[in-house]
Amino acid sequence: MDSYTQSIRGTGSVAEVIAIYDDHCTTYEKMICEEGKYKGPFILVEAVTKEVPECRRKEVRVIDVAAGTGMVGVALAQKGFTNLDALEPSEGMLKCLRSKNVYTNTFHEYVGQGHTNVPQGCYDLVFAVGGMGYNHIPFTGVLEFVRFAKPGGLVMICMRHDEEDYLTKLNEYMNSLEEQQLWKKVFSTPIKDYLIGTDGILFVYQVL
Ligand SMILES: C[S@@+](CC[C@H](N)C(=O)[O-])C[C@H]1O[C@@H](n2cnc3c(N)ncnc32)[C@H](O)[C@@H]1O
Repeated sequence: MDSYTQSIRGTGSVAEVIAIYDDHCTTYEKMICEEGKYKGPFILVEAVTKEVPECRRKEVRVIDVAAGTGMVGVALAQKGFTNLDALEPSEGMLKCLRSKNVYTNTFHEYVGQGHTNVPQGCYDLVFAVGGMGYNHIPFTGVLEFVRFAKPGGLVMICMRHDEEDYLTKLNEYMNSLEEQQLWKKVFSTPIKDYLIGTDGILFVYQVL
């Protein structure tokens, strides 16, 4: 198991996880990208740039949920996106992402306990990279993603694929939202070597 995964496994509460990210905020990018060979941000940026043509990148409104140090925001800004917001519960990570100067509004809160202060129905694109999984955003948190999106907006979730119990419940829950006609699945695709020794998956849904 890589050192990043070791550091976040075995914790139980939201407070513990957030404290770990606070402690690791200055070393996170080096640890996860260099040691963990983390592909999440690159996969997400590739998917977003395929979906959103250059001519629309200044107008689409985007929220990066569980934004961490803002690696995805920086990459999207380099691709021409100018309307980026972020949600992140760790004060340390939030400080790092704010220093990147690519996000307009930042929300210091977590997904998983009722409604956040993120406004309803405002975003063309809602995504979470590495934020879904054990001890992170609970699988029911995707309902909050649906609330953030405009009708017709996209929700993208990029995550590890080795947490079987969580993934089973997430899939069942996402299917139930589809049965309720809250969203429809656009596609999902496996990611080889998402994090060192771990494959991943990208889900894309469209809110109805
Ligand atoms: C693996 S990092 C991913 C950060 C960033 N998206 C990236 O790809 O580099 C996971 C992030 O999820 C955040 N997080 C954990 N639990 C969360 C929750 N319940 N709601 C929102 N964010 C959460 C952590 O604070 C951390 O910044």
